[in-house]
Parts: sequence; structure tokens; C-alpha cells
Amino acid sequence: MPPKVISFNDSYVPDIVRLDAAWRAEMGDAFSHQDWTEDHFRLDLPGKQKLSRLALDENGRLVGFWSASIRRRTAHTHRVAVDPSWRRSGLGRLMFESFREAALSAGCEDMTISLTFANDAARRFYEALGYRLMFGVDLEKFVAATGRPGRVEHDRVLEEGRAYVIMRRSLGREEP
Ligand SMILES: CC(C)(COP(=O)(O)OP(=O)(O)OC[C@H]1O[C@@H](n2cnc3c(N)ncnc32)[C@H](O)[C@@H]1OP(=O)(O)O)[C@@H](O)C(=O)NCCC(=O)NCCS
Repeated sequence: MPPKVISFNDSYVPDIVRLDAAWRAEMGDAFSHQDWTEDHFRLDLPGKQKLSRLALDENGRLVGFWSASIRRRTAHTHRVAVDPSWRRSGLGRLMFESFREAALSAGCEDMTISLTFANDAARRFYEALGYRLMFGVDLEKFVAATGRPGRVEHDRVLEEGRAYVIMRRSLGREEP
């Protein structure tokens, strides 16, 4: 039976942290430059409850999460992970569709995600979902709006010894 996708619920935070930490242990800095604790996932950000998603298997076990919030009219994804035993089964896409519907209902105009430059698999995942790399002036404007110190080089941002990319997808209904 395919997992069930539900709205974010604080009671799953310890399970979210475990799943997140398992990927960080496997991928290291290619996943993120930072370990995320319960405090990160409990942070009360605008639109977070509306947009974030959890996936539960038939026994009620957490097998995926999609953590996001709203910045101006952009649905920004913070962190996504699927339990390794469910990898490549369509679960990431299933959570995305639910997240996208929520972002549309919340009046968002587009969706963004920041990925480490080394996370090729995730980049291909987001490409399959219709996201595209930002570059040039658009990327410079995005970084400036975050107030972060990163320097843009074509399609990547260099910040304090690490490199990351930003991918964006419009929420226009005309896009696949
Ligand atoms: C990235 C991740 C969330 C994808 O979840 P998933 O459930 O495995 O993805 P799906 O099965 O829904 O894949 C949808 C499409 O994305 C693409 N895709 C997904 N994983 C891919 C990979 N490893 N390599 C290439 N393409 C990939 C494919 O086009 C796939 O469609 P297909 O299987 O029909 O070819 C999952 O691999 C994961 O948890 N990775 C570790 C954490 C991470 O890097 N998160 C993203 C950064 S926050």
C-alpha cells in the first residue's frame, strides 16, 4: 500500500530528525553543511504548518517528510527526505504534489529549493518535478533578498567555503 501523505505534525519531529540524520550520515556535506536538531524542525515559520508534509506507511511509521515555509509569495523548501527503503518508489513526487497543492491554495507564485552543489541526485529529482536552476541576475537578486553573504558565479552561490544552487519552479497552472 502506498504511504499516506498528511500535514506537518509536531509529534513526529523526533522521527523526522532520525530520518534526516540517517541521510546526513550517509551523504555528509552533500546533503547539508549542518545537522538539523528538533529545534530546527519545530521552528515556527510563516506558512510552515500549511505547506509541510509527512508520509506514513501502513503501520503509521514516518517514511518521508517535506519541510517548507513561505517567504513573500514563494513556497521555499527547507529539507526533504524519503526513507531509503522507499527510495525511487514515487514517494518524493507524491509528497511534492501535496505540497504544491498547498502552496497554490496559500496563494504562492513560485517554489524554490536550495541544494548543495554536490547533491546531483536531488538536482535530478527536482528537475523531474519541473524545477530549473537559477542563474545570473535572477540568482543574484534571490541571494540578496535572503540577506546572506554568498557570491554568485553563474548558477552557483559560493558562501563561506561551500557551494550551493537554487532551483525554482513557477506555480503557474499552465506548467506540467
Ligand atoms: C531526493 C529524494 C527526496 C527523492 O525521493 P524519491 O521518493 O526517491 O523520488 P521519486 O521516486 O518520487 O522520484 C521522482 C523522479 O525524480 C527523479 N529522481 C529521483 N531520484 C533520483 C536519483 N537518485 N537519480 C536520478 N533521478 C532521480 C526521477 O526522474 C524520478 O522518476 P522515475 O523514478 O520515474 O525515473 C530521496 O532520494 C532522498 O530522500 N534523498 C536524500 C535526501 C536529499 O538529498 N534530499 C533533497 C535535499 S533537501
